[in-house]
Amino acid sequence: MLPHRTDFPNGFLFGTATSAYQIEGHSKGGAGRTHWDDFAATPGNVAGAENGAVACGHLDRWAEDLDLVQDAGFDVYRFSTSWARVLPEGRGTPNAAGLDFYDRLVDGMLERGIKPAATLYHWELPSPLADLGGWRNRDIANWFADFTEVIMSRIGDRVWSAAPINEPWCVSWLSHFDGHHAPGLRDIRATARAMHHVLLAHGRAIEVMRGLGMSNLGAVCNMEYAAPVDDSPGAQKAARVQDAIYNRFFLSGITKGTYPDAVLEGIEPHLPDGWPHDFQTITAPIDWIGVNYYTRKIYGPAEDPSAPWPATREHDGPLPKTAMGWEVYPEGLTHFLNMVASEYTGDLPIYVTENGMAGLVERKGDATDDPDRTAYLAAHMGVVQDAITEGIPVKGYFTWSLLDNYEWALGYAPRFGLVHVDFETLERTPKASYHALRKALSRP
Ligand code: NOJ
Repeated sequence: MLPHRTDFPNGFLFGTATSAYQIEGHSKGGAGRTHWDDFAATPGNVAGAENGAVACGHLDRWAEDLDLVQDAGFDVYRFSTSWARVLPEGRGTPNAAGLDFYDRLVDGMLERGIKPAATLYHWELPSPLADLGGWRNRDIANWFADFTEVIMSRIGDRVWSAAPINEPWCVSWLSHFDGHHAPGLRDIRATARAMHHVLLAHGRAIEVMRGLGMSNLGAVCNMEYAAPVDDSPGAQKAARVQDAIYNRFFLSGITKGTYPDAVLEGIEPHLPDGWPHDFQTITAPIDWIGVNYYTRKIYGPAEDPSAPWPATREHDGPLPKTAMGWEVYPEGLTHFLNMVASEYTGDLPIYVTENGMAGLVERKGDATDDPDRTAYLAAHMGVVQDAITEGIPVKGYFTWSLLDNYEWALGYAPRFGLVHVDFETLERTPKASYHALRKALSRP
């Protein structure tokens, strides 16, 4: 059973999250082409070559979706602004219809008593900028600062919070080293540059938003527990390296102005000249930190002893798994809430900005009966309660996601929503987990 709102301190915030490309329907409303459209159009990258052209049709159905957020009793709605919807070429002339859309969306939240939590970039880079090198090109920090200025000059006076970039690890490592997300590179030099530039862009955007007089600005990092496959020194080292790449590099850059040695060992020759001078911008003060948490991974050394850095290999884990093949491991969230506060952010408010699970590719009838999702949320909400009792400053918990949506390279098969979406008719049907949350969030 889910804990009730009253089991949390007064003022604790419950929210739900989505992102632009995953729900809006990118083909409508004058948005420009993005590197996700390009990536999906390249055979072999995305299941069924599916893309975000239609997605959940949120562009037309946003009012219905905000009603769902409100009816569930959420305090906050975390959404993202599509760079290419606002600036179709990535720079230059804004798309008036795009700016109007986000303006209405924010007003729609306020009218319903929902706090708007904006993320500026949730992965769909405008193609013209990708063609100029995207995250590999240092100029992206300035392009991103300009985009920040344009969109926040329009909605920044009414958003409750803002974070520049969702999950810097995915923007850089997953996309430039693993090749699993756009632009699909497997190149350590591109990765190193993207890792640094994504933080530089973060810092520039924070500076721009401060300049506009905005407050409650944060950073959203994804964390995945890295466990050694056994107690051999090789496995311990593999887990340590992955932990440093995934969970510490970005957090350390933003909060301490340093990069972990375990990561520099692999990327330093590839970082842009003069990179340490950028920390003044990268460490621009923030007001909160967001943790997106789902699972753990298990690591050992690479099979081939001559494998290049980081020379690790992933192993299958023994715990029950979600439809993503991700182990359910709430203990990892306990670990990260402790780690973030004790090693990096101290008293800074922490929000769990994403947590949730994908169900199987269901038929509609079965799809709305999702006791495993409710159990998953209950376990992780319990972890948050315990962390608060331990004195960790966790101030909110947001589920991913409001709607079934476009799960990137896996297309529409994994369903993360509290609300089922029929991708033929775009009809929304709240699942049992939605109703359970609605009860848990009811005000006495
Ligand atoms: C994190 C990302 O922010 C989101 O876009 C994605 O759908 C979920 N994780 C689930 O993989």
